[in-house]
Amino acid sequence: MDWRIKASLQKLLTLSRIGDKLNHIPATLNKEYHHNVVKYQFYECIRKFKSIDIDLNQMPLALEIGTGYSIISPLVLSLLGFGKVITVDIDADVNFIAFQKELKYLNRKEFIDQISNLGIYSEDIIKAKLATIKQCKSLDKVLAFANIKYIAPYTIEEIDKEENNFDYISSQVVFEHIPPEFLELLFRKFKVWLKKDCFTVHTINFIDHFANPGIFQDKKISEFNFLRFSDKYWKFWSGNPIAYTNRLSYLYYQELFKINNLHIVNFIGENYRPSKVLETNQIHVDILKKYKSKPNLIELTKYQRGTFIVKN
Ligand SMILES: C[S@@+](CC[C@H](N)C(=O)[O-])C[C@H]1O[C@@H](n2cnc3c(N)ncnc32)[C@H](O)[C@@H]1O
Repeated sequence: MDWRIKASLQKLLTLSRIGDKLNHIPATLNKEYHHNVVKYQFYECIRKFKSIDIDLNQMPLALEIGTGYSIISPLVLSLLGFGKVITVDIDADVNFIAFQKELKYLNRKEFIDQISNLGIYSEDIIKAKLATIKQCKSLDKVLAFANIKYIAPYTIEEIDKEENNFDYISSQVVFEHIPPEFLELLFRKFKVWLKKDCFTVHTINFIDHFANPGIFQDKKISEFNFLRFSDKYWKFWSGNPIAYTNRLSYLYYQELFKINNLHIVNFIGENYRPSKVLETNQIHVDILKKYKSKPNLIELTKYQRGTFIVKN
């Protein structure tokens, strides 16, 4: 299906106050949706956590940028032994009923074993914590018990007021949805918020989301199709809160970490799905203008996804 059909529907949905929630409904129709959310958030959270060096006995403080529809990731950090987790998003999309369904899946041996192996609590304590959470009658009670502060929508000032000395800052497929101007502000704050010698880990998806699997997927386009267009054309089709992606490659973030004196310990670039090559001569000149110095065109389509492991 031509990607502009999905883009048109998303533009229409933007007119509604609950457009983003409506846009999310097709994904939730899958019977395995809640199980998949738990598996995805758990493994991605653990994968990023394993890449850092941190002393959980100090009850460290974590900040997650971009909560999304689930608090499984901050809850896993809490169960590992983080003393407090702040999770922020521009939209308040977490809901208690969905959380209760997800909790059933998290309460399984495969997850509890891994949390107790990597964290500070024994299996019995983790089971007891999960049992208490199961008894909670509201999301607020869950958040209070796990010492998770969920701020959505948030501002930089609210994070500053809540905490400004983090041991760990992470995000999962969020930066690509943030405009460059706000990314610059956020990265400057990372330098201030992150304690010396502590880590910040971010997984970013670099591809055109209209090529993502689903009923509206455009199977004919390259996963870097969006690099073909001018800013004006792209803004017309995807310049709305539901569809927005910034079309930036790993080079942009690499530069931003360096400018802010944050040391990139490792960058893991991945190609996780079949590729349809986009020739470099198809990349629009507006894309090149996003970079401080002219980028090597080959690099712009080198990775579909990547994880930055960065130390202050
Ligand atoms: C693809 S979802 C990922 C959610 C979650 N991290 C996950 O992996 O399931 C992207 C999320 O980024 C959020 N987002 C967009 N702009 C943001 C910003 N400036 N700050 C924080 N979150 C933002 C969106 O509201 C959305 O919930």
